[in-house]
Amino acid sequence: MLTPNPPPTCVSSIIGTGSYMPEKILTNDDLSKFVETSDEWITSRTGIRERRIAADDQATSDLAAEAARRAMTAAGVQPEEIDLIVIATVTPDMLFPSTACFVQKKIGANNAVCFDISAACSGFLYALQIARHFLNAGTRTTALVIGAEKLSTLINWRDRNTCVLFGDGAGAVVIRAVEPGVAAPGRVLSTVMGSDGTLTDVLKVPGGGSACPITSDNIASRPNTIHMEGRETFKHAVTRMCQASEQALAAAGLTKADIDMVIPHQANARIISAIADRLGLPMEKTFMNLDKYGNTSAATIPVALDEAHRQGKIKRGDVVLLVAFGGGFTWASSVVRW
Ligand code: UT7
Repeated sequence: MLTPNPPPTCVSSIIGTGSYMPEKILTNDDLSKFVETSDEWITSRTGIRERRIAADDQATSDLAAEAARRAMTAAGVQPEEIDLIVIATVTPDMLFPSTACFVQKKIGANNAVCFDISAACSGFLYALQIARHFLNAGTRTTALVIGAEKLSTLINWRDRNTCVLFGDGAGAVVIRAVEPGVAAPGRVLSTVMGSDGTLTDVLKVPGGGSACPITSDNIASRPNTIHMEGRETFKHAVTRMCQASEQALAAAGLTKADIDMVIPHQANARIISAIADRLGLPMEKTFMNLDKYGNTSAATIPVALDEAHRQGKIKRGDVVLLVAFGGGFTWASSVVRW
């Protein structure tokens, strides 16, 4: 649905959040029954205690559609008002059609333009920035931005280096174009993004695409699962997320002292505390829920944002810093005036 007379410029405001986490819980003790690990190792090295696993008959679009419904309810928006759906995922229902098109059908958002984007764990903030450009340009009015993953389908359950880290889930926001000067909560003040394609080998799912199709000859080596050099990823994650945070604050005309809450990508509690340390922030100003969900890639930030909002940890007027890092490598940060 195009606006009949697009205004020259608008600003984008988050007007509703929602999330959906599958019911099934897989604890660290459960994992230690089929891979050589322990609750003590996983908790002390990552902060993760349990994660959610989607049912066999739940696809990524099912998780995403439920998160979207909850965000639309929170925003008081009807499906036909949505004119753009952007989904960040590395676990699409199919290679095509896009998961966004499946969500469109499931929620009845018949007026939306729909597509997926691929930026791994930074995907939600990339999608937010893409949608924001449409809204700020005045060519769309109301967008659903979703991060949704069924990472359990990409896990090699025999690889203790990776299988303990990830989980399934979905988070969504509704963003709306608002004319400049109109007071609106949830205003996205800035977003910065970056990528470094020289490091594609460090974190990847090598098989299943055009470079390495799955065949009966290679399936035994599980190329269709997550491969990660953990220490290398850790190092870059801390550096890039700190840089991106500082750049997003500067772009918003703010400083570290203005931050009320950081909502970081939920990969590892030690990464998050290193970022808080470098930004000079107390841990109380850093939201964490990875103990319950593990790393849900593109879903971590919208799920955490939704929970922080519903738990009253962020209030109207607060400066909220969102920051992510993922495969590619990719990274991004947004500042929102809640
Ligand atoms: O979301 C995208 C971004 N992803 C990330 O940011 C993840 C970044 N990386 C990490 O979070 C951490 O590197 C990990 C949690 C993946 C690993 O923690 P680490 O402290 O870097 O451990 P490590 O890989 O250096 O391994 C230390 C030891 C090794 O044993 P040796 O060689 O010292 O004998 C591993 O084999 O821990 C062993 N190990 C385990 N032991 C028990 C690795 N995984 C496990 C496990 N249980 N699940």
